[in-house]
Amino acid sequence: MEIVETQAQAKAIIRSWKGQKFSIGLVPTMGYLHEGHASLIRLARADNERVAVSVFVNPTQFAPGEDLASYPRDFERDRELCQSLGVDLIFHPQPVEMYPPGYATYVEAPSLSVNLCGRSRPTHFRGVLTVVLKLFALLGPDRAYFGLKDAQQFFIIKRMVEDLGLDLAMIPGPTVREPDGLALSSRNVYLSPAERSAALVLQRALRAAERLLRAGERRSDLILAEMRRIVVAETLARLDYAEIVETRGLSLIPQVTGQALVAIAVFFGKTRLIDNFLWEAEA
Ligand code: PAF
Repeated sequence: MEIVETQAQAKAIIRSWKGQKFSIGLVPTMGYLHEGHASLIRLARADNERVAVSVFVNPTQFAPGEDLASYPRDFERDRELCQSLGVDLIFHPQPVEMYPPGYATYVEAPSLSVNLCGRSRPTHFRGVLTVVLKLFALLGPDRAYFGLKDAQQFFIIKRMVEDLGLDLAMIPGPTVREPDGLALSSRNVYLSPAERSAALVLQRALRAAERLLRAGERRSDLILAEMRRIVVAETLARLDYAEIVETRGLSLIPQVTGQALVAIAVFFGKTRLIDNFLWEAEA
């Protein structure tokens, strides 16, 4: 496994892989890898001749006052996990390598960023799209792997790939959960024991929404009211949003008809956790 910090080093490796016609799978990450990332790396390993993982806490996707400085980092552990999973290349740049002084170009999809996480983090997806496009340009993957816990991120990047005509496949990976249902997230490490228990409210709210949908309820306001009621009853939780959107334009829908994303974000102290499920229309 090679570990490189500069774009020039990464380019040289990619050039040699492309010369040998190897297919390349990319798993972009911000490090502090957990089983969710491992599951994406396994998918990439199965599909491609070469697997690259980027480990980069991308400053442009954090707003001032968010957790950029405290975001958990443990490169040695990440390195060991990647090694054990058969990763071929870790790209681990410093911020200045990705954003040198005078850096000026950003990518955004404003209409897809108004709801869900885009509402509470208005500059977040501009940072995500920018760094992901830079990683795609540098590492030239045939397939890129993203977890569906960050479903809005997946759909926005997928649309960027489509709109810009990028020649790669976007592969979603299912959300990986703790045995009690909490979605794995690098940010779970911030939770106190009491907040960790309270965090199960995300699952309770989502499962309640799913039950209503299964019972035939299609009115988003009624489903969301039930989700909000469940979150408000948990004293350590503060609801950021509960929303239902369609999965192309990511606009709010009053009635659940086609494929819908039911998503929730909740604060526990300063820690904001997200979760969701995809509802597929009945045949
Ligand atoms: O999902 C993440 O970890 C990040 O948003 C990503 C896609 C690696 C971009 O920094």
